[in-house]
Amino acid sequence: MAQPRGQWSGRLGFILAAAGSAVGLGNLWKFPYITYENQGGAFVLVYIAAIALVGLPIMFAEIILGRRSQLSPVGAFRKLAAGRPGGSGWCAVGYLGVAAGFIILSYYSVVAGWTLRYTWMALSGELGRLAAEPGALDTFFGGYVADGGAQLLGNGLFMATTVAAVFFGVKSGIERVATFLMPILMVILLSLAVYAATTPGFGAAISFLFRPNFGELTSHGLLEAVGHAFFTLSLGMGAIVTYGSYMGKETSIPVSGLAIAALDTIIAILACIVMFSIIFTFDLDVTKSAGILFTTLPAVFFQLSGGGLLAASFYILVAFAALTSTISLLEVVSSFSIDELGWSRHRATLTMGAAIFLFGILNALSLGANDALTSLNVFGDTHLGVFNNLDYLASNWLLPVGGLLIAIFTGWILSPRDTLAEMETGHPGSRSWFPGWLALIRFVSPLAVGAIIFSIIFLGMEYQ
Ligand code: TRP
Repeated sequence: MAQPRGQWSGRLGFILAAAGSAVGLGNLWKFPYITYENQGGAFVLVYIAAIALVGLPIMFAEIILGRRSQLSPVGAFRKLAAGRPGGSGWCAVGYLGVAAGFIILSYYSVVAGWTLRYTWMALSGELGRLAAEPGALDTFFGGYVADGGAQLLGNGLFMATTVAAVFFGVKSGIERVATFLMPILMVILLSLAVYAATTPGFGAAISFLFRPNFGELTSHGLLEAVGHAFFTLSLGMGAIVTYGSYMGKETSIPVSGLAIAALDTIIAILACIVMFSIIFTFDLDVTKSAGILFTTLPAVFFQLSGGGLLAASFYILVAFAALTSTISLLEVVSSFSIDELGWSRHRATLTMGAAIFLFGILNALSLGANDALTSLNVFGDTHLGVFNNLDYLASNWLLPVGGLLIAIFTGWILSPRDTLAEMETGHPGSRSWFPGWLALIRFVSPLAVGAIIFSIIFLGMEYQ
């Protein structure tokens, strides 16, 4: 290979980069929305259990695969499966991951592009003018997503920023952006949370989130919590395998895995506290759509003092969170081209970034700009358009299936001697709790993920 493999500068670099991947639109948009839909309380507890019992074990598994092989997913499976049942057939899981990364990035960056436009409008005062006029935010949003040129511009800008970060490599690109953005993100979110604590709806928000009401919990909510644990931790497609492959042997897998999951969970819950305080203060109705972020919340920001600043900080927060996630998605595809096709990093990021942007045009124009793309119907009437069909495909099929196979491979195909050896590298005291992790990755995680897949096929449930 032409260039030496990149490495994080240390444990903190890995934790911040991986937490940057995990924290994204899933935390700031999807989690508050599904928590609201599932009546808070008990759902939040179940979600935390899903993170601990399914997400965390698979997180450890992905880090083990990456660091042991020092390769991105396709090569990781090829190397680790050699001489074991299934052999190089396991490479398919790696290819599935690369395809998932390509697909998810192609639509994720469209939504990420919206945050740039809304940040700009908050700063220029345009958002304030729209907020002052009843219904204007909705009308604007509808027109904006259907404006092909505007969508391509937003998506293009976001993709270019993502490419620029990944272009400079593991340490001077990805890690540098994450170590710069993640602390800022935390400061903005904590300031918004402090602000939220002064609003009249704060008390209601806290009791909504933390008072368990198990009567309200449905089996659908249970499975939704498990499905979301996957998406929010960036699991199931080898993003964490890839990041784990840049991790030094001195870094502890359990400590960094725990830190990533904890940061992701804390940020999701803080986002809920901010949004629910506002929602309960103004007694708003939350509807299912991108609306909560781009039509409901801006209206409210401008009813509070300092609305323009509040709105701008909020959209910058979402943009930063989305950027460190798009970086991880592009890195999966780029590192595949580097490891498997022998490309240079520069060639890989520019070519793959351009390819994903070009493919993403289909998504960008499927929100109203082009009739054929907007009405594409593969998975039924509730998922119209290329954008929604690809999101459905990735969230409901690619990630759960990938996660299931990763759990089976790590738990049953690799020998426990090898996984224990990798776990002990950087964390010598692992032997005592290792059997607990092994039981989770062998039985609990596959059964929980299997239940999701079963429910999608036979009960028609969906996880996005
Ligand atoms: N975890 C991110 C979020 O919550 C999205 C994401 C980034 C992702 N990389 C991923 C999801 C890899 C699945 C797989 O927004």
